[in-house]
Amino acid sequence: MNKDIEKVLITEEAIGRRLDEVAQRIIADFSNQDSLQVVAILKGSVFFMADLLRRIPFKIEIECLNVSSYHGGTTSSGQVDFLDQKLPDVHRRCVLVVDDILDTGQTLGEVKAKLTRLGASEVKTCVLISKKKERVCDLKADYAAFEIDDEFVVGYGLDYRGQYRNLPYVGVLKSSLVS
Ligand code: XMP
Repeated sequence: MNKDIEKVLITEEAIGRRLDEVAQRIIADFSNQDSLQVVAILKGSVFFMADLLRRIPFKIEIECLNVSSYHGGTTSSGQVDFLDQKLPDVHRRCVLVVDDILDTGQTLGEVKAKLTRLGASEVKTCVLISKKKERVCDLKADYAAFEIDDEFVVGYGLDYRGQYRNLPYVGVLKSSLVS
């Protein structure tokens, strides 16, 4: 285990097992579509998206949205910034948005609203983790691999000040390292 980690919350093996199950649900739910349009939220979703989508044998188009709400700390700034110059063309597409974590719900809520305004016919959401807490934005993920208590986590795409994304598990940082 990385020396900066206090405890592992979700092991690499548990992630693998749950991704198999979530992929099966998505395959069943989207079986009537010719192809799947995925919009991944950068950067936190990259490991989750790559591992999940390799379990789904559809024609898949991937677009990415560079969205920021944490600005490096451990609490949401409350402001969701869309950092891309050009937004994906989702007109009349059924879109699956993939993100790392559902916390206040603001990010996914705003992404969903934006994609709907861009003409998507349907927007479904899929997250690695849903935090058990009241949301600022009333939103429930259509697919959530794990539910955790309201604590700050890193690993498997999730970062603290840009680090720890490459840990193969999800864990809690030692409190002495968090300011
Ligand atoms: P909201 O509050 O908009 O948050 O649902 C979504 C984004 O906030 C980041 N986030 C976290 N990042 N550990 C992290 O590394 C966490 O525990 C955490 N909680 C929220 C993340 O970027 C997510 O997409």
